[in-house]
Amino acid sequence: MDAAPEIVDNRYLHPLMIGRMRLRNNLCLAPMAGFTNVAFRLIAKEVGGCGLVATEMVAALGNPGTQNESRFRILTQNVPQEKPLAMQVYGREPDLCAATAAALDRAGADLIDLNCGCPVKKAKQSGCGVALMREPAQVGAVVKAMRAAVSPKKPVTVKMRLGYDAQNRNMLDVAQAAIENGADALFVHARTGESKHGVPVDLSGVREVKELSNRLTGGRVPVIANGSMETAAAIRAAKDEAGADGYQIGRAACGDPWLFRNLIAELTGGEPYLPTYSERRALLARHFELILGLFGEERGVRVMRKYTFFYCNGLPGVRKFRDRFQRIETPPAFYSLIDDFFTHLERGGADGDVEHLNLFERGSAEHNNEHGE
Ligand SMILES: Cc1cc2nc3c(=O)[nH]c(=O)nc-3n(C[C@H](O)[C@H](O)[C@H](O)COP(=O)(O)O)c2cc1C
Repeated sequence: MDAAPEIVDNRYLHPLMIGRMRLRNNLCLAPMAGFTNVAFRLIAKEVGGCGLVATEMVAALGNPGTQNESRFRILTQNVPQEKPLAMQVYGREPDLCAATAAALDRAGADLIDLNCGCPVKKAKQSGCGVALMREPAQVGAVVKAMRAAVSPKKPVTVKMRLGYDAQNRNMLDVAQAAIENGADALFVHARTGESKHGVPVDLSGVREVKELSNRLTGGRVPVIANGSMETAAAIRAAKDEAGADGYQIGRAACGDPWLFRNLIAELTGGEPYLPTYSERRALLARHFELILGLFGEERGVRVMRKYTFFYCNGLPGVRKFRDRFQRIETPPAFYSLIDDFFTHLERGGADGDVEHLNLFERGSAEHNNEHGE
């Protein structure tokens, strides 16, 4: 059922126990609001072979009544092929977070994570996301309540940063509070809350968290490194310099689900996998069908614009076709655009405009969102 390859006898890639849950390999898809819906996750699993996929965060800010429960089901869809599935709680009140975690458990989550990393203004103002990094005791209280509310066989985890900002680099206090209150793993974004994505990751902070976990739990609580883990070199460094037990990848997987497969190949001595143009075209079409099934035609077409951009990024002509990507209004327009685009590529496509646009930093509401973590 689980399409992730089980990788054995490898220093960097291997099965991973998180609490009582076993992942077939330790490559994880990071939660990304606006991106990691079931279509994206299925493709990351089937094409890439990552060991764990995640939904976006779910706010625990109101009363989790029936309406919310149906919203959670929309997030999960309960598709067996994508399992195991992580879902994430965003909030700060232990009771509300616990009630939300229990609802996610009922909705089919296999692992339930607490967001202590989101750096947007709203999170900071409401004491959620990265603001929780300033309150280790609160993190402990939330984890304890979530742990008590979730089935014992399902892991409860924390996704954290190295601190609220560079002046408050207190990841050890937060990690200790999380572990002592029952966290089964820590996903550590190796930056503090004010750092932009371009800032190099600080693996020494991950190493300190890993050493703490070794001291407190004998290594039973794995530490999974996050932040620009998109190359084999970055993964080797996370293991060799920080002792990371796994790697969580976000932005680089958008439009490149083959990334996981490439990393597996490269780190296990195989050849990198380069998709042909026709494979890219076929996967775009499959992704579109999944998105239409999920969102319906009108919204699905709009949602697909950003994925199309990501899939075509870095290929010749992406700039030339950009306006057309942005104007897709109907499924036939989508198919005719990808036909034109890939025909252009197959004919050589060379008009000197191979370009890798930084789609996360364009600031456009269409391709970005306010998380930008
Ligand atoms: C568009 C976008 C949405 C995100 N949404 C979430 C989220 O819902 N929960 C979360 O913990 N992190 C979220 N993140 C942060 C990522 O999970 C990840 O920590 C970050 O992008 C760094 O990893 P990367 O360098 O592999 O992208 C988001 C990031 C982006 C770019």
